[in-house]
Amino acid sequence: MADIFKLSLEKDGTGVVVFDVPGPMNTWTDAALAGLAEVLEELKAAKGLRGAIFISGKPDNFFAGANLQMIEKIESGGEARKVLDVFHGLFKKLQDIGVPTVAAVHGHCLGGGLEFALAFTARIAREGKTTLIGLPECNVGLFPGGGGTQRLPRLIGYPAIELILKGTMLPAARAHQLGIIDRLVPAGGDLLAEAKKLLEEIISGTAGLKRPAHDFSGIDQAADAARKEVLKATRGRELPAPMLALAAIRDGLKAPLDEGLEIEKKYFTEVVMTPEAKGSINTFFIKTLTDKPKALMTKGFTPKPLRKVAILGFGTMGRGIAIDVLRNTNFPLLVKDVPEALEPGKAFLKKILEGMAEKKRLKESVDAILSRLDLTSEYGSGFGEADLVVEAVFEDIKVKDQVYKELSKAVREDCLIASNTSSIPITKMAGAVLKPERFGGMHFFSPVWMMQLVEVIQGDKTSRETVDGLLNFAGAIRKRPIVCRDNPGFVVNAMILPYLVNALKYVEEGNTIEAVDQAMLSFGMPVGPVRLTDEVGIDVPYKVLVGMGIPQNSLKNIVGDGRLGLKKSGKGIFLKDGSVDPAVLPLIARSGERKRSAGEIQEGILTDMVKVGKDLLDRKIVDDVRMIDVGLVWGVGFPPDKGGPMRWADLTGLSRKLFGKTFYRQ
Ligand code: NAI
Repeated sequence: MADIFKLSLEKDGTGVVVFDVPGPMNTWTDAALAGLAEVLEELKAAKGLRGAIFISGKPDNFFAGANLQMIEKIESGGEARKVLDVFHGLFKKLQDIGVPTVAAVHGHCLGGGLEFALAFTARIAREGKTTLIGLPECNVGLFPGGGGTQRLPRLIGYPAIELILKGTMLPAARAHQLGIIDRLVPAGGDLLAEAKKLLEEIISGTAGLKRPAHDFSGIDQAADAARKEVLKATRGRELPAPMLALAAIRDGLKAPLDEGLEIEKKYFTEVVMTPEAKGSINTFFIKTLTDKPKALMTKGFTPKPLRKVAILGFGTMGRGIAIDVLRNTNFPLLVKDVPEALEPGKAFLKKILEGMAEKKRLKESVDAILSRLDLTSEYGSGFGEADLVVEAVFEDIKVKDQVYKELSKAVREDCLIASNTSSIPITKMAGAVLKPERFGGMHFFSPVWMMQLVEVIQGDKTSRETVDGLLNFAGAIRKRPIVCRDNPGFVVNAMILPYLVNALKYVEEGNTIEAVDQAMLSFGMPVGPVRLTDEVGIDVPYKVLVGMGIPQNSLKNIVGDGRLGLKKSGKGIFLKDGSVDPAVLPLIARSGERKRSAGEIQEGILTDMVKVGKDLLDRKIVDDVRMIDVGLVWGVGFPPDKGGPMRWADLTGLSRKLFGKTFYRQ
């Protein structure tokens, strides 16, 4: 443990502590906390100590914060309190060490890392891409509980409130402007040497550190204003993390620091036990899992280089996929469609890319990007050079069969092929593909350039190497992939069906469309189920249900009335002003009278979604429950504070109630 924090006492009485927690990032593990305790004792005992500097031994990481795995395992308020007492005890000991101290920051200085840095006399930071400073805890359902809600406002005043609530991560220069950082060292500068200079100046009284006395008499008004901003961003949902963070700031700033820290502890023990904290932490973990698709690939797999990609079909989806290939890679891209579809497709790409360029989202000019695009109506020699082809032609098995027969002749035998089908089994289409082991599914979501998710589908004949290759392509075009097997609706559409079906059932039982949609909006879904039906095109779920043999009379009546959705046919369930079209009400096939509360609507819908999820696991459509939660959070905007439907079912006791067990290991 002694090696995590290493003290060397220099001749002039400067203690230099270099710390390095095993692992890629410094986080507050038990060993790191014990190491800090030891080194603080060493410093206290050091003879002739005039001041101390703490600097990370890692090339680009000060401290990334608390260890979320450790926090997730906390099972009671009492346990949380014990952990907090350790952090607070150590940071206070550091604060009261009796000599000036300097935190020398390079790389991430986040959460519990910044709270650590705030206990020093002063902070110096080296500028750089990875030097980010902030308290992002609210983004994982928590708030800064290691003194951050008290020390940061006392250092920089009211701007701290927004930084904490939004979890903003600041570059060093901005943190310096705000007064969090006292000195800046330019990128590449000698951080330790500059930290020593700063320490000398503090010792000699010439540092001129800015420590203005802030007047917090207006804290109630500031907290009220901040609360309103938060509620705007959460569409009225009172999420525990920002609400309790605000309470800690507001109450704590009315008291002296030591009391304020106790107040913060009290609220933190509350927030850490909320299901939203655990849900948000799960979302953080599943995001990390899928940030780099390599984690989903077979260990040791080396992807074949991708040098050229082709897309079949330049319609809604082909265009979207083309945008993501062109803006995220340097591959030449070949697109095939009928001649009349080519120029309109290219004009569409240009329009979308120009919009991105205006928002400074592109690294190159639109012309440079489009220069890699090659359009064709023939299977010419270009296809022989393609390493991967994505098929996005009409959703018609006859068309697809024909396309695969022709394509198989045009490409090399080792060219990967992926279908973007939304409903035709991959295994069924594989029959028309020469060497079907190199063929799988890649189900994108529309609009492709805005939706992160892609489902990678392994048909019966798809080799694992092909799945890995498709995952590699997903990574190259910056998608967040999940892996699944053939299934009607794959994962996301299968899970979303009960969302729509139950909603309609509740409407048929006499609940208003508005009440049903509102129940799911207050649960945190971005779009209510009935509105979603209207937006995707009412005939789409209707046809799916007919295909599954499930009668849905309301949809039948609505579609029969020519209402395919406001966007699709100019007529749907809603009017342009967002209200329900009264003409739809007589088309609802009323089935009785059962008024449900918002809570009952939410539980009813979630129960059926989770049952589908359990079935996907039982039938091995997915091997890992996290794939379902990733799919729902990034495919349909399931609220990130709930961690995905399966994790939420665990956290609320629903999975135990339904199946006597949880989906995740607890
Ligand atoms: P679309 O109708 O907008 O475009 C299809 C394009 O394929 C048309 O431009 C057509 O000319 C072209 N095409 C037809 N036969 C072709 C051939 N033999 N060679 C080259 N091009 C050919 O259809 P969309 O919506 O883009 O759908 C394409 C595929 O993506 C379908 O399998 C669909 O199920 C799937 N999908 C659609 C989603 C959506 O939201 N629209 C979402 C996810 C998947």
